[in-house]
Amino acid sequence: MQDSFLGRGHPMLKQDQLVNVEDLQVFFHTDDGIVRAVDGVSFDIKKQETLGVLGESGCGKSITARALLNLIPRPRGRIHNGKIFLHQEQGQPLDILSLNPFGKQMGRVRGREISIVFQEPMTSLNPVYTIGQQIMEAVRLHHGLSKKAARDRAAEMLSLVGISSPAESVDKYPHEFSGGMRQRAMIAIALSCSPKLLIADEPTTALDVTIESQILELMQELQDTMNMSIMFITHDLGVIGEIADRVIVMYAGKIVERGTCREIFYEPKHPYTQKLLESRPKVGKEGELSSIRGSVPSPFSLPKGCYFAPSCDHAHDRCHQDPEEIRISEGHWAKCWLYDEGGDNIAAAE
Ligand SMILES: Nc1ncnc2c1ncn2[C@@H]1O[C@H](COP(=O)(O)OP(=O)(O)OP(=O)(O)O)[C@@H](O)[C@H]1O
Ligand SMILES: [Mg+2]
Repeated sequence: MQDSFLGRGHPMLKQDQLVNVEDLQVFFHTDDGIVRAVDGVSFDIKKQETLGVLGESGCGKSITARALLNLIPRPRGRIHNGKIFLHQEQGQPLDILSLNPFGKQMGRVRGREISIVFQEPMTSLNPVYTIGQQIMEAVRLHHGLSKKAARDRAAEMLSLVGISSPAESVDKYPHEFSGGMRQRAMIAIALSCSPKLLIADEPTTALDVTIESQILELMQELQDTMNMSIMFITHDLGVIGEIADRVIVMYAGKIVERGTCREIFYEPKHPYTQKLLESRPKVGKEGELSSIRGSVPSPFSLPKGCYFAPSCDHAHDRCHQDPEEIRISEGHWAKCWLYDEGGDNIAAAE
């Protein structure tokens, strides 16, 4: 382990890594008890890759994303443990969770280094400001541009995201845009400061299928132009298959499997991932996850050991202990005892 750490305890980020999340735990202290929304999650995001985050509702996808921006809903939400490092062009990796969430340095990270596009643009766009004013605010804040230069930049960004007549659209209010245009405008705001990482938290769920595929295409084009990484969160297998290089699969606050998109789709190892793929509807909206009945345990009565065990066809005695992440192949890991070395259960799961 020694050589993977810098002198002051920062993990050494390999050149191709942009973000490094280490053992992140985010809990909510509610009247009914503690909700372990994110419970010991570790992953990295490499430069220029698209990392897909897949999982059913409530499994901790959005809270993980918010932690990357140090935006945990307070006071109930608390970072219980973990570190998030952002690799910078120069200097030491930035320890995001050590920064004051309301301070200047964190403000600079948001937008300039990491931006987020939320699921529902109408709740994220401010209805009383024009789309142009909202982009201008971001670029003036981060780049100190003059009013005129910021306005030009706003029009340029709207044109980049495929909005026609950008010079006129700058003066429009969010309600004058269609749903697809609003989502494009959100992407324009998020990209206006050329972030290194774009977090897209179910950005196309509210859109129809044609607009959705246009937006996905647009994000991929912009990724190439701007050399950025994308963390793409969704419960839609079809979208993940289209956009992601690597995928992490979350279940009840934990990562249960990680691998390349191909490995997750064609060689899923964790029984939960396997069930997800099986439960994919064959008709209607392709790829939308239907939840696995009875599979997600209540956050207030979690089973001992593997949370998926009560719904798992392969569960055995050992599943009463929390499984380790077991390496299937380079980069492909499953948090499941079936694959433990010397275990005789591998064949059963395949
Ligand atoms: N403000 C909050 N107060 C209490 N619990 C919360 C709060 N926000 C989230 N949670 C809980 O944290 C867990 C993870 O929530 P999160 O929003 O990350 O889920 P998700 O995977 O993004 O789901 P979805 O697909 O529905 O967006 C859930 O159990 C949720 O109920
Ligand atoms: Mg969410």
